Amino acid sequence: MTWKIPLFKIYWDEEDVEAVTTAIKAGMNWAVGPNVEQFEDLIASYVGTDYAVTFNSGTSALHTALLAHGIKKGAEVIVPSFTFIATANAPLFVGAKPVFADIEEETFGLGPEDVKEKITKKTKAIIPIHYGGCSCKIRELKEIADDHNLILIEDAAESLGARIGDKKVGSFGDSAMLSFCQNKIITTGDGGAIVTNTKKIYEKLKLIRSHGRLETSDYFSSTEYMDYITLGYNFRMSNIVAALGVAQLKKVDKIIEMRRKNAEYLTASLKRELKEIMTPVPPNEYYHAYQMYTIMVDNRDKLMKYLADNGIMTKVYFSPVHLTHFCKNELGYTCKLPVTEETSTQVLTLPMYPALTKEEMDFILDNIKCFVEVPR
Ligand SMILES: Cc1ncc(COP(=O)(O)O)c(C=O)c1O
Repeated sequence: MTWKIPLFKIYWDEEDVEAVTTAIKAGMNWAVGPNVEQFEDLIASYVGTDYAVTFNSGTSALHTALLAHGIKKGAEVIVPSFTFIATANAPLFVGAKPVFADIEEETFGLGPEDVKEKITKKTKAIIPIHYGGCSCKIRELKEIADDHNLILIEDAAESLGARIGDKKVGSFGDSAMLSFCQNKIITTGDGGAIVTNTKKIYEKLKLIRSHGRLETSDYFSSTEYMDYITLGYNFRMSNIVAALGVAQLKKVDKIIEMRRKNAEYLTASLKRELKEIMTPVPPNEYYHAYQMYTIMVDNRDKLMKYLADNGIMTKVYFSPVHLTHFCKNELGYTCKLPVTEETSTQVLTLPMYPALTKEEMDFILDNIKCFVEVPR
């Protein structure tokens, strides 16, 4: 379907094209090469961690993080249900059990109180997400993790650049995952990374990412025998993709500023004219990067259809994972998560991206206004 206004558009420029072109024209090092390390160094220094390891997706990054942290069969991992399914699937990849906890209403992140309720003797880790560009109550979750000796892995797929005060998301936990899929803050098409301050985890991540091979230098340009010391995958980000990552990361702050300006415009207009719609309100000190702009509204499904009929794409982020066919029918989950279930009936993510114009935002707002003003 072609939309008058799609949910998102990628922000790219000639520097991105040049970076990829240069990597291609090198005629070698398309898989492994210097752009990968450069991208990793830039990610680590941007987030404020000692190490970063890139992957071919956020999902493979999270899978590898669980392996590197030694989470395995028999372990329980507390995750939100109000998330993209990959967060909940990651424990399953390593034979562990995802245990769903409810969210709190302010940030849509894991609710610290319900997380405490869900801790058992088998709990090994917590994977909270930072929803749509806003930090969750990560300081409170960190305290719980520390008190119970649990591993804290942030799913920061949607929230590169978000922070509390000066501390960026991704730098609170033992490790954190970032996604560079096409609808994220910056993108390489597909791609992901893990950031961490722990050297041992960093080394394990690199091993598992590339076949469990102990790489003493570039495998493809070395005649040296390199041993395989653990089970591994090919989850690598290619050198061409990393070139795009470097070019994208150079403009991340500009991209976030553009997102924030548009979000501000939408919020101010909605608050002024449409009081029945709840706009995002980040807590004090929370710097929102607005990967998504999500409102809450009672008549959500009808509004969604009305906007679609007028060429405006919106989407429900998220429908609860514990209510999917997979979780209910294949895995037998029957848990109840009242806040998640209620919130998921009201959320609607509106189109919001750096290059969205004032005219386009007015078009969206006028359509919402038309919908609200006519009784349905
Ligand atoms: C919260 C969350 N977790 C995990 C993922 C998975 O990331 P990827 O699509 O890069 O595999 C996404 C993105 O789609 C996400 O939004």
